[in-house]
Amino acid sequence: MPMTAPISLSRLREMKQQGEKIACLTAYDASFARVLDEAGVEVILVGDSLGMVIQGHTTTVPVTMDDMIYHSRAAGQGNRRALLMVDMPFMACPTVEWALVNATRLMQAGGAQAVKLEGSGVQLEIVTELARRSIPVCAHLGLQPQSVHKIGGYRVQGRESAAAKGMLDNAMQLEKAGADALLLECVPESLATEITESVTIPVIGIGAGPRCDGQVLVLHDILGVTPGKAPRFSKNFMNEGGSIQAAVARYVAEVKAGTFPAQQHVFE
Ligand code: KIV
Repeated sequence: MPMTAPISLSRLREMKQQGEKIACLTAYDASFARVLDEAGVEVILVGDSLGMVIQGHTTTVPVTMDDMIYHSRAAGQGNRRALLMVDMPFMACPTVEWALVNATRLMQAGGAQAVKLEGSGVQLEIVTELARRSIPVCAHLGLQPQSVHKIGGYRVQGRESAAAKGMLDNAMQLEKAGADALLLECVPESLATEITESVTIPVIGIGAGPRCDGQVLVLHDILGVTPGKAPRFSKNFMNEGGSIQAAVARYVAEVKAGTFPAQQHVFE
């Protein structure tokens, strides 16, 4: 099969401008990265969700930089075309200097083409500096799973008007600071739509409604192998039967058609 051009940040921006939905999924190894890449996923996220679905922890907090580099290298081996985005794990960015060191490690040792970071408040300063050094960066807003012990659970964020305004302002400031993309997790549909329409950079949603520029889910959730109750915003694409490749292709097709997420996956 002839390879189409590798996905770049400018291609993702162009997709936003043209209203073409961006399909993103997590992968943590070469075999699944290859499946995703061949199915036409534009962004492969080596998420720190690996702490839960690969390592069996109950949160993402125990995941280390070495873990991220190991899985990023592995996923990169199976990927040819998709943009490889890699999470900065818990406390990888306690200061701007550490953020620079760790983002550099993810790119040089892990092969990351973009890094994603949680942590509102400190994000602006860090994003500014990463952008100044030409490190592609996606800022993760809304529910921040690395803060689970502080916030006391996995809850929808931005329901109250002050919090919604704060998130919208933060999103616009992050774009100004040089962020190349935003990820919104567990945000009411109306707020996610407003944020998506207020910035020119691509906005990828998870539990943030169908109007974001793209969607991401955890691979193990769409394959129905995550232990316990699946998150409300997720969908088991294996339910209709067939192979893993067919399930991933269905996910990509539904994201592209705008039929996923449906109303039952959305928060008000
Ligand atoms: O770690 C991860 O997989 C993520 C997604 C849930 C967006 O950050």
